[in-house]
Amino acid sequence: MFSIFSSKKLLASRLGEFTDIHNHILPGIDDGAKTPEDSLQLLSHFKELGITNLICTPHTMSDFHPNTPETITDAKKRLQEFLAEKSHNEFQIRASSEYMMDSAFTDLLEAKIILPLKDQFVLVEMSYLQPPVNLREILFKIGNAGFIPVLAHPERYAFYHSKYSTYTELKSICKFQLNALSITGYYGPGIAKTALKLLEDGMFDFLGTDTHHMRHIENLKKAKYSGKHEQALDRIINNTTATFS
Ligand SMILES: [Fe+2]
Repeated sequence: MFSIFSSKKLLASRLGEFTDIHNHILPGIDDGAKTPEDSLQLLSHFKELGITNLICTPHTMSDFHPNTPETITDAKKRLQEFLAEKSHNEFQIRASSEYMMDSAFTDLLEAKIILPLKDQFVLVEMSYLQPPVNLREILFKIGNAGFIPVLAHPERYAFYHSKYSTYTELKSICKFQLNALSITGYYGPGIAKTALKLLEDGMFDFLGTDTHHMRHIENLKKAKYSGKHEQALDRIINNTTATFS
């Protein structure tokens, strides 16, 4: 029997005016866009989705991407100059970072050398292989430094998939940010299943695209969601834009 709840809808139809708070479009400083031309290619697709307001979050990861506020703001300036040269003045580009919760991060935190998303919100991630042994201590340090941790893509940490209670515990200390492609199965069925469970349980606060390259944006443009998740998605989409625009 036909049911509106079983119909699939394009996620792109909900993203007009959305503020993306997680992406790797700044050129040349992490595993995302390599050149300003790459950045502009990604931005032109964002624009097709109705997204022109972006907080860029290159990795700060002491071993692979040892970024600093200077390297990040320099990359933002380089992109903004390139966009101005090409007469693209429709984009609002802000710079932040996705901080790996490694030992170097706690040093940055103590020295307050942090680029928050906005106000007190700091985007953090952990390894996909295992959590840091002192995860809770790091999260409390973030709070003690006056920041609010926003955990990037909790659904992607497969070591928690069979320990759902850990999500409940972490949720009391951090905000949760869903990756848009997680609900489509792009990262695999286990991640999609956990993403939908967390979404249904009202555990997510914010949405981000985590766009690194064209494959991500092409998949984002064709991403679909089930009608039964519309309200939950709208809630986090609206909350993200209201908090960060
Ligand atoms: Fe990311």
